[in-house]
Amino acid sequence: EKGTYPHYMLKEIDEQPLVMRKIIQNYQDGEGALEIDSDIVKAMKKADRIYIIAAGTSYHAGLVGKQFIERMAKVPVEVHISSEFGYNMPLLSEKPLFIFISQSGETADSRQVLVQVKEMGHPALTITNVPGSTLSREADYTLLLHAGPEIAVASTKAYTAQLAVLAILAEVTAKSRGFAVEFDLVKELGIVASAMESLTDSKEAFEDIAREFLTVTRNCFFIGRGIDFYVGLEGALKLKEISYIQAEGFAGGELKHGTIALIEQGTPVIALATQDFVNLSIRGNVKEVAARGANPCIISMKGLETDEDRFVLPEVHHLLTPLISVIPLQLISYYAALHRDCDVDKPRNLAKSVTVE
Ligand code: F6R
Repeated sequence: EKGTYPHYMLKEIDEQPLVMRKIIQNYQDGEGALEIDSDIVKAMKKADRIYIIAAGTSYHAGLVGKQFIERMAKVPVEVHISSEFGYNMPLLSEKPLFIFISQSGETADSRQVLVQVKEMGHPALTITNVPGSTLSREADYTLLLHAGPEIAVASTKAYTAQLAVLAILAEVTAKSRGFAVEFDLVKELGIVASAMESLTDSKEAFEDIAREFLTVTRNCFFIGRGIDFYVGLEGALKLKEISYIQAEGFAGGELKHGTIALIEQGTPVIALATQDFVNLSIRGNVKEVAARGANPCIISMKGLETDEDRFVLPEVHHLLTPLISVIPLQLISYYAALHRDCDVDKPRNLAKSVTVE
């Protein structure tokens, strides 16, 4: 039930801090260390390459998950869109492990790949929010998101739950492979949960941004570098699906290779700046678009901020920033859709689980 909330989407955005805490609890052993089913750890240890298969928002979570797994556990990871994988199958490694990320566990495109790789005899793990879902039943292993039912068509809490579970999987795999993880993930996810709370308590700031930048515009760009780019892709998807504003996520450096031609007087450009090593270069991209008339909205992270920034996120570990930088984008999309009189929870032409190919 959505209780006092006007929309499920808003309720689900607000539930994210709670979901973080639930995930930490569910993946802790008696001593408080992170723990994952030992068969899954064995499969992760055995794999010489991981193939993440997903669609939409879950694909965007996979892009970030690749960074977690490669940086912590040092196993190479490829991320593929499920609908493309069947006919664009890459040359597989000798010991592949397939990870299917699917909130619903019912996405037909992903299931088709699962059937295909099972026929080839490869192991598969499904990360899903729905126990007993098709993708969970048909894979060898399952990790649950513990996000609670997600009703709004636009995925919010499932995305951050996917990121948290992928980070935990990366950490546990790293340890099993003998790699030290130089930070305490339980503690850092706790910091993430508190940071999420402060963001869901700042709704007015995001409603203001939506009103100012998105009430009348035809299009909107999201730019970022490194993991900020992947969060920008998710921000653009959220905005287009519920507000029907044409939105694109771009790698900051790629703009000048074509897309900058679309910048006109007043075009909103939402830039994420959460990563120290690209802070100057993303700000350079903001200057480039501003010089061509764009209306930039910079969302940065504490410690990296400048006077020109519209919102400064609370500081979290630099690998985990997608878990919090996505929240302003979810809320900005929500308010943009609201201001434009769109049906937030049930956008046109979309279904919650896509069970056709
Ligand atoms: C976007 C959205 C979709 C889903 C996609 C995959 O907000 O919800 O893009 O992420 O249809 O769905 P699952 O994760 O259920 O496989």
